[in-house]
Amino acid sequence: MEKKTTEPMCYEACVRKLEQGERLDREQWRTLIDGYSQPRAADLARRAGVLRDRIYGKKVFVRGLIEFTNYCRNDCYYCGIRRSNRKVCRYRLTEGEILSCCRAGYALGFRTFVLQGGEDSYFTDERIVSIVQKIREEFPECAVTLSIGEKKKESYAAFREAGADRYLLRHETADADHYRQLHPPELTLENRITCLRELKRLGFQTGAGFMVGSPGQTTETLIDDMQFLEELQPEMVGIGPFIPHHDTPFREQAAGTLEQTLYLLSLVRLLLPQVLLPATTALGTIAPGGREAGILAGANVVMPNLSPENVREKYLLYDNKICTGKEAAECLEDLKASMAAIGYQVVIDRGDHISYQKERK
Ligand code: 5AD
Repeated sequence: MEKKTTEPMCYEACVRKLEQGERLDREQWRTLIDGYSQPRAADLARRAGVLRDRIYGKKVFVRGLIEFTNYCRNDCYYCGIRRSNRKVCRYRLTEGEILSCCRAGYALGFRTFVLQGGEDSYFTDERIVSIVQKIREEFPECAVTLSIGEKKKESYAAFREAGADRYLLRHETADADHYRQLHPPELTLENRITCLRELKRLGFQTGAGFMVGSPGQTTETLIDDMQFLEELQPEMVGIGPFIPHHDTPFREQAAGTLEQTLYLLSLVRLLLPQVLLPATTALGTIAPGGREAGILAGANVVMPNLSPENVREKYLLYDNKICTGKEAAECLEDLKASMAAIGYQVVIDRGDHISYQKERK
């Protein structure tokens, strides 16, 4: 009897399969991830752009990012504000300062505020709830996104009850061994995933994601990431290059590349056509025009910095983080111009995930 051998599917067939919303097996993901070439990346970016345009048009959503505390009880090996970094000048914004940031942002046209911070025990659930309520009261037509790490499910429920709409919690890697290479033992992939599932269950528009080129990342861990995203179906995915920070254990490690980040952005757009996908600050940091390139590769969100100017340089997750140019919220006009130059329009809108837009109307 003739032995049945299955030919590995060619690159183009894998792309088509992904575009048709069919599930890829590991080998097919490997074909895509390892099949990188410049012409293929350009083709994938074009196809990702077509898909994004079909769902969200030529709109780019903006979020005002408020980095409200750089105190952190965690010690992630990659992160500049890790607890063991004694050189960081720590700060926290008061509730009043956070609200002032929102006022300035609202006047500029922001309709989503992202409160991002280290895991800072000063900000108890009560304090977070109070901040979220005050923002929602003063700016009822704005969305509030939280990005404050792993919490108990009761805490997440309280934040949701207070009016928080979205939550960002990158999974960082979906491979448990790789997770241990990036984090100290008290942090586990298992708990991270439990948190993400709970956030979804509570009705948060939920964001997962990972760094591209983080130490120990391989094609195999990236396949895990793509399959994890497929299974979780997050409404948002944050992907940016890993960039070493000089006061972390990963100071000598190489940064992720612009090319691979753009390629993965396109793949994520094809995998999750409706996803809210930011062209991240880290992408803008590794290359001039990185964020514009991100939009052209399938991203549809940009998150300018709304933090008070005197604290921006203290929220350094990685070296050379841009914080004075076009990524700053005051320079929204520049951002609008650079997006217009590539055919995109920055809009004054909450910028909800398409399935939540329908629900709200
Ligand atoms: N390079 C790039 N991204 C980083 N982050 C933290 N440290 C770095 C770094 N050195 C990302 C993590 C985290 C998000 C807030 O910032 O993925 O989830």
